[in-house]
Amino acid sequence: MHELDHYIYPHRVLHWLVAGVVLLSLASGLSLGFLGYERAVSLLGNALTNVIYTSHKTLGVALLLLMTLRIITRLAFVIPDHDPPLNAFERIVSTSVHHLLYLALIVMPIIGWTATASGGFPVEFFHWHLPGLIGRHEELSEQLFMWHGRLGWIILGLVVLHVSGALFHWKIKRDNVMKRMSLFD
Ligand code: HEM
Ligand code: HEM
Repeated sequence: MHELDHYIYPHRVLHWLVAGVVLLSLASGLSLGFLGYERAVSLLGNALTNVIYTSHKTLGVALLLLMTLRIITRLAFVIPDHDPPLNAFERIVSTSVHHLLYLALIVMPIIGWTATASGGFPVEFFHWHLPGLIGRHEELSEQLFMWHGRLGWIILGLVVLHVSGALFHWKIKRDNVMKRMSLFD
């Protein structure tokens, strides 16, 4: 047993930064996927459409960096004990959702990156163009974009489960789970 009742501060900051970036990536990605390039241009104009594409790619690459740091702060520092302890159901469901989120949030930007590069489009991070890492391959790009879209819905589902669990602990069970990730208390 140790006295720690919070994740270490940098890990908490990364949690909330990742949460913001994930929600913005999902909102921009799903809007682009729903409209498609042609309809986005006719509805929003060329300049705004390009800004949304560049912003979406920038958010995705930033997420890859943030998740790398987050894995380090998760593995290198002690995780607080649950006080009171979680029951077996809560422990199994929350741990599974957390691990699936980690996995999905590493795989998703890699798929986005390779789908973009193999389609012959620029991989942008702010105004920089990053190396594509793989050559042009139209069919592969189509497949990867299809998986990018599917994984987007899976991530949205995991986030809904996760946030429902957090709200349940915070507002209904009123235990200390929210405090573990809080920046303020
Ligand atoms: C939207 C994207 C979000 C993602 C991807 C995400 C991801 C995660 C992950 C992977 C963990 C496990 C702890 C770790 O290893 O870092 C965690 C913990 C936690 N999250 Fe989130 N989270 C998100 C949003 C939220 C929101 C909106 C809330 C609150 C309403 C929240 C509340 C919490 C709490 C309280 C914990 C601590 C749970 C515990 O240790 O038992 N998260 N989050
Ligand atoms: C975790 C980070 C990311 C999330 C959550 C995310 C999410 C999404 C979602 C949900 C879509 C809609 C797909 C569809 O319905 O067809 C999408 C589209 C797209 N994503 Fe991502 N994405 C991420 C990272 C990236 C990265 C790193 C890149 C490239 C560097 C990228 C490039 C694209 C492009 C170009 C589209 C538009 C595809 C189209 O026009 O159909 N994404 N993204």
